[in-house]
Amino acid sequence: MARLIISADGPEKFDVWKNAFAQVAPDLTVCSWYAPETKSEPADYVLVWTPEKDHYPALSGVKAIICTGAGVDHLLRAPEFPHHVPLVRMGGTQTAQLMADYVTWAAISLLRQARTWAIQQADGTWANNCIARTTAETRIAIMGLGHLGSSVATHLARVGFQVSGWKRSASVLPGVQVYAGQDALPDFLKTADILVNLLPSTPQTCGLVTYDFLTNLPKGAGFINVGRGDHVMQPDLIKALDDGVLSGAVLDVVTPEPLPVTSALWAHPKITVTPHVASEASPVMQADYVAQVIKSMERGETPALLCDPQKGY
Ligand code: GLV
Repeated sequence: MARLIISADGPEKFDVWKNAFAQVAPDLTVCSWYAPETKSEPADYVLVWTPEKDHYPALSGVKAIICTGAGVDHLLRAPEFPHHVPLVRMGGTQTAQLMADYVTWAAISLLRQARTWAIQQADGTWANNCIARTTAETRIAIMGLGHLGSSVATHLARVGFQVSGWKRSASVLPGVQVYAGQDALPDFLKTADILVNLLPSTPQTCGLVTYDFLTNLPKGAGFINVGRGDHVMQPDLIKALDDGVLSGAVLDVVTPEPLPVTSALWAHPKITVTPHVASEASPVMQADYVAQVIKSMERGETPALLCDPQKGY
């Protein structure tokens, strides 16, 4: 059976990973990157999140690098990353469902302006500010319809939102109006009472969300960022909120992370910040996914979430 080396989350988390793999893939040999004896035998597969600089040379000889993140931009940007080695992104049903749950919560929070309730509660203010608008009366638009985006879109359509999505190339997703390509972006943005960013961070998408970009949305739209902090020009986002271009934002990703205590985002009355928690599946669910990837690669198959270094995700 294949040999998997785990570097993700450092030496402290190894036992958690080992137990998780023991439950779902007892045949897989699982070793810690940090154990001295690991160095003597080459790995078949490596599970990583943010490898140290000096880990990269040893990654260049493995059959695949599997990332515990759905986003792999940090790996692709590392000058030492061995681009010839297959890189597989995190997937699996729990990862997708957690993201769908988070975006549903964030969208309904924006719809009902739940941030106002939190502010009122903090100082004991009872003010009745009911918002009589339902999910069915709300258009939600998702940028990025990959593995996570399409699952989120399908879920939101089931919840009752009117859903559209934007991606590079045309495709069909039941219950979702799909816009494809750069030219379709302005029309797509017009459909967004709430805009969800689930794009991968690439040189093409980094810095995409500027003040001008946001003015394409219907006035007073909401914004949810579950992509990457670097998609957003932060001063532009704050200006858009202050000017009423946006009515609220929920940010699970920001730049930098952790968000410094001095950041203006924390106390902004229209911003809800969550600490990059939208979608991290349990170790057992992640281990199950990783074991499936390894089994399929051992059979000579190509994993569905294999990164294309040309596309950058
Ligand atoms: C988290 O953002 C991830 O990439 O999974």
